[in-house]
Amino acid sequence: MDWYRIKTSFIGLKRLATLPKEDKQACVDAYRFFQRMQAGEATKTEDETQAVLDYYRVLNNMLAIFDVEKLYIPPQLDEAQGLYGNQLLIEQHVLQQMDLKDPENSHLLDMGCGRGRISYHFATSTGGQVSGYNIDANQIESAIDWANECDMNDQLHFKVGNHHDPLEYESDMFEACYSFGAVWPFFKKEEMDDHAKEMYRVLKPGGRYSCSEYLLTPHFDWNNEEHAALHRLFLPTLAATHSMYPADVCAALERAGFKILTSLPSKAPAWPLCDQKRDLVTIGRKFIRVLEAIRILPPWVEESLDLLQKGGDAWRDAEKAKLADLNWRIVAEKPLA
Ligand SMILES: C[S@@+](CC[C@H](N)C(=O)[O-])C[C@H]1O[C@@H](n2cnc3c(N)ncnc32)[C@H](O)[C@@H]1O
Repeated sequence: MDWYRIKTSFIGLKRLATLPKEDKQACVDAYRFFQRMQAGEATKTEDETQAVLDYYRVLNNMLAIFDVEKLYIPPQLDEAQGLYGNQLLIEQHVLQQMDLKDPENSHLLDMGCGRGRISYHFATSTGGQVSGYNIDANQIESAIDWANECDMNDQLHFKVGNHHDPLEYESDMFEACYSFGAVWPFFKKEEMDDHAKEMYRVLKPGGRYSCSEYLLTPHFDWNNEEHAALHRLFLPTLAATHSMYPADVCAALERAGFKILTSLPSKAPAWPLCDQKRDLVTIGRKFIRVLEAIRILPPWVEESLDLLQKGGDAWRDAEKAKLADLNWRIVAEKPLA
């Protein structure tokens, strides 16, 4: 595993150093776009999606250097384990909630699958099939490379896809679908129904949607200036475009025909693991400054990490005050016909 981590960090560094100049500029512009959104600028969904894509194309490589290859921070369910161990624990929980009757013959859908490592975990746990889609071809390339390397092409299927388009999968195709911080932060409230209906369509009757997603808690109050100020700071760092309440998501799922089985806050906070990564990034920044000084990396890498850390601090304050949750759990079922 350690060798795997070193190799992943190295590939992340190499990809960052060799990304085209336009991609890097687009990433910096995307962060500014998120900040303008938070300052109240009205934006179109297509432009928001483009900004998310531009941002993640670079961010996924940057975070891979710091061992955040699966692009989410899990709850700290076990203090003796680090980020990766706790990711495996929350993933097992989300998988159990799917209540698969015949795991080996199951086919799951990973929505916003990132670099495909959660799909890999589920395919190895169940022995079944997992399909995943993501807006960013760069992440999909990494997912496909990994499936090839593990010789799991018969179980893992990845392609580029957008939540805002009809899902390119047949109706009644999946035993379950899931998401980890990858669906609801990218929707305006009035757009959620279309995606919920698509999820409903591709699931088999009796199939479940299980997730661990970034959502506001019911304590968050848009009219409270302290809450709103924290939100303005942390949302661009989460690379999210919108913040929904669990009740918004559940209502959209219910309108699509789902029965809600669970809607609960995370079992443990994520901020202790955010803090651990913050310390690692602080050390990494010293190394990155050297690489920038000898012109191996451009100066914006340091600048981006600085923004990430400031947003991370605001996130910690918001989570400690229980205003927002990185791992809210929802389980919903498509009723048997
Ligand atoms: C916080 S990351 C989580 C990724 C993945 N679930 C994981 O945990 O590794 C959010 C993911 O959502 C993807 N995403 C954002 N907007 C999307 C869209 N409109 N359609 C598909 N994927 C999208 C991003 O590219 C990114 O991979």
